[in-house]
Amino acid sequence: MTKGIPFHPKPLYLKPLNQTHINPYTHTPKTLLVAGATGATGCQLVRILLEKRHKVRVIVRSAGRLPDDLQKHGNIEIHEGTVLNLSDKEINELVRGCEGVASCLGHNLSLKGIYGKPRKLVEDSVIRLCEAIIQCNPAGKVRLALMNTSGNRNRDLNEKVSFGHRLGIGIIRLLLPPQKDNEQAAEFLRTSIGQSHEIIEWSAVRPDDLTDEDSVSSYELYPSPIRDPLFNPGKTSRINVADFMSRLLTENEVWEDWKGKMPVIYNR
Ligand SMILES: NC(=O)c1ccc[n+]([C@@H]2O[C@H](COP(=O)([O-])OP(=O)(O)OC[C@H]3O[C@@H](n4cnc5c(N)ncnc54)[C@H](OP(=O)(O)O)[C@@H]3O)[C@@H](O)[C@H]2O)c1
Repeated sequence: MTKGIPFHPKPLYLKPLNQTHINPYTHTPKTLLVAGATGATGCQLVRILLEKRHKVRVIVRSAGRLPDDLQKHGNIEIHEGTVLNLSDKEINELVRGCEGVASCLGHNLSLKGIYGKPRKLVEDSVIRLCEAIIQCNPAGKVRLALMNTSGNRNRDLNEKVSFGHRLGIGIIRLLLPPQKDNEQAAEFLRTSIGQSHEIIEWSAVRPDDLTDEDSVSSYELYPSPIRDPLFNPGKTSRINVADFMSRLLTENEVWEDWKGKMPVIYNR
């Protein structure tokens, strides 16, 4: 069992926008791109980034699915489409100038979402985003934060799982294509981008059983799961995932701790 690193969100991020302690003279806003911004986690991530006074670009199938406060925010750029159907020129323009990119994409929990096309929504979107970032040849490194799952293993580490777990995940992988898609998306980052890419750095965040809460609470991060996600899952609120992903994209210390890794996040 790996020792955990308690991780407490700073009160700064719990305060509403007009009460934040961000110093306008020292704060450097980043431009960040979020895919999956209409999702339950994605819209929380966008809101947190806007509260931290960053500029956020989003790619959404329908702008009307974004909450009103986000649609009207002065620092959001909304682009209708999908990562997979935008032209090369469009996607390149969207990633150009971004210091960080996040994917909170996931298959909708409907028959069409789970078994219809695109089967490789998450993997192909991550690949396309990486290709666009590379084509833009940015001056500095670009961070890519992927929302992944505790049901996936980090094969860079010796993550031991029981026979029952292996069997269970094998069955889920066969019956539910999104499992394989999530696994392959992280595998692309781990093996094709790797640990020393000249342009892209990445982190694949692995929440456990997702829940909905209104505010950020304390959470813990581990390099590997400390519980079996199938037989003894923990809870992770989507807003805590969003908080952590926002900190990965915007805080250097947090990024240095978790880049090239697949942090597992649990509510405390
Ligand atoms: N145990 C769990 O529950 C669990 C645990 C860990 C990780 N996860 C992973 O985390 C992901 C995100 O979770 P969530 O609850 O925030 O997801 P969510 O609310 O279902 O959001 C999914 C996002 O993906 C978009 N999307 C779906 N199908 C698409 C398509 N064909 N083309 C373009 N965009 C598409 C949705 O857009 P629209 O709004 O247009 O539909 C939405 O923005 C999950 O899907 C899952 O893979 C789940």
